[in-house]
Amino acid sequence: MCGIVGYIGTREAYPILLEGLYKLEYRGYDSAGLALLDSGVIQLIKGVGEISKLEEKVGGRKLTGCVGIAHSRWATHGRPSDGNAHPHSGCSENFVVVHNGIIENYQSLRSRLKEQGHRFSSETDTEVLAHLVEQYYDGDLLEAVQRAIEEVRGSYAIVVMSAYDPERLICARKHNPLIIGLGDGENMVASDLPAILSHTRRTYFLEDGEMAEVKANEVNVFNQQGERIEKEIFEVTWDAVAAEKGGYPHFMIKEIMEQPQAIRETLRGRIDAERGKVCLADDLHFSCQELKNYRKIWIVACGTAYHAGLVGKYLFEKLVRIPVEVDLASEFRYRDPMLDKDSLVIVISQSGETADTLAALRLAKTKGIKILAITNVVGSSVAREADEVLFTWAGPEIAVASTKAYITQLIALYLLAIYFAESRGMLEAGEEANYIKILQSLPEKINEILADTTAIEEVAAKISSWENAFFIGRNLDYAVAMEGSLKLKETSYIHAESYAAGELKHGALALITKGIPVFAVATQEEVFEKTVSNIKEIKARDAFVIAFTFQGKEELAEEVDQVFYLPCVSDFFAPVLSVVPLQLVSYYTAVKRGCSVDKPRNLAKSVTVE
Ligand code: AGP
Repeated sequence: MCGIVGYIGTREAYPILLEGLYKLEYRGYDSAGLALLDSGVIQLIKGVGEISKLEEKVGGRKLTGCVGIAHSRWATHGRPSDGNAHPHSGCSENFVVVHNGIIENYQSLRSRLKEQGHRFSSETDTEVLAHLVEQYYDGDLLEAVQRAIEEVRGSYAIVVMSAYDPERLICARKHNPLIIGLGDGENMVASDLPAILSHTRRTYFLEDGEMAEVKANEVNVFNQQGERIEKEIFEVTWDAVAAEKGGYPHFMIKEIMEQPQAIRETLRGRIDAERGKVCLADDLHFSCQELKNYRKIWIVACGTAYHAGLVGKYLFEKLVRIPVEVDLASEFRYRDPMLDKDSLVIVISQSGETADTLAALRLAKTKGIKILAITNVVGSSVAREADEVLFTWAGPEIAVASTKAYITQLIALYLLAIYFAESRGMLEAGEEANYIKILQSLPEKINEILADTTAIEEVAAKISSWENAFFIGRNLDYAVAMEGSLKLKETSYIHAESYAAGELKHGALALITKGIPVFAVATQEEVFEKTVSNIKEIKARDAFVIAFTFQGKEELAEEVDQVFYLPCVSDFFAPVLSVVPLQLVSYYTAVKRGCSVDKPRNLAKSVTVE
């Protein structure tokens, strides 16, 4: 999720671009850059580090030009470095591009362009765009960009500038946002509203497949067929702070709502629906023999990432039939774990900087064990020190309470478990293809849950006066209950405990009193009846039970106070759905209790100390 800003008008572009980058800093900033066009010459300045580093790099240089593009990067392909920072140019600096998204087929395009004599200077997927535009330019920049994006598979929001066509910026979008700010004698382009709101509130929102030529006094928008279309002007009423959160009151709810897109981005380029295959060859470099040789998997993480690992245990043990030990990194690192040569250690970390997780990774490395990392941050310490990395493409996660990163960690674990199982011949004919269909259906099913949060908000209002709550489940539901209890604890400061549903009667049932909220996750068919009997035990003590189960399980309604029905899916994939209402309950409860939702007391987004 990078930040893009473009300006064309009569004012000096540099200060406007720089201000826009700062306003989009929440979209990622492992590197930044800008390009200005003045008198037919493009000046390009970029580098690794935050936007303030870019400003320092410019220093006292007089940057002139009333046309320019700028970019703050959230790295996907290619680690954070000066060379990988945007804008990217072709062989000459007469064409420059900024891009947000993922080009799935960039490797093949890069190889072909190299064979045709193009010289590349970065590791990024984006650079192929600059070379394609350069190759296709024949006097019409709009046409060159059209031809370039026809060859691209994946997601993009791009802005192209050329020294040969100084009167306009060309932009295009597919799956990633791009907004045009309509000024008076000037116009802007940006990934998000905050970059333009101090200049104009009149905007066009480009739709997928649309392109635009943005001139100082004119904006023309074209549809996929290249026909000019009329766009409705959207007058923005949000203030700048609200705009940073996409109009939501908090980053946490914004990030919960982003989960369907985060899942799509994490799946992108990793499933081949036509062949019904999981394709991780671009991400991982295990040999077939290695995949066959592993006799044990360790999953090591902290907090929410640890809870994702608990789900991973069930997935791997069911599909791959090898033992999986899930350990808290802070325990693993001091337990002298019995790692042996045919073990694989998977570390999970959203930030990639958690001290305990990093220490656990380093400990396993000293024992010669291969490390696979699942992380959300390219260039993070975990990503750099692991042997293999499977990135979650959730985009920057700002709220301390992890939501979209967690759900994409689950997706990464599903992809890994299927990939390992297939490589070991564990899947029936058609089984992998079926899993892929289900994975692809999850974003829309989550959208169904997110479409109406009224009932969830009512439950949150009801439980917000309580100081204690329980979360229960069995099997995969238990792993999700663990995450649900942490979410409620860390956002609303309610003391929440999660229990394996079958365990309550061994002690905790003594704490079940009249009215106490108990969240029961009941999606696993094999143990559904068992979970219902645990719910009956709890109801017999007059607790307030809220159940989460699939549509069609109406019989549960007689046993509890409130049921949330989830869209039906194979119960093997239930965690990706059942966690969403639990995240929402935590969010609305925290809001109701007036808590600091995005920055809970005592907590940090990344625990980089022991
Ligand atoms: C998540 O909601 C929590 N804020 C916290 O437990 C977090 O998951 C944990 O600190 C691990 O962080 P990481 O994924 O960046 O390693």
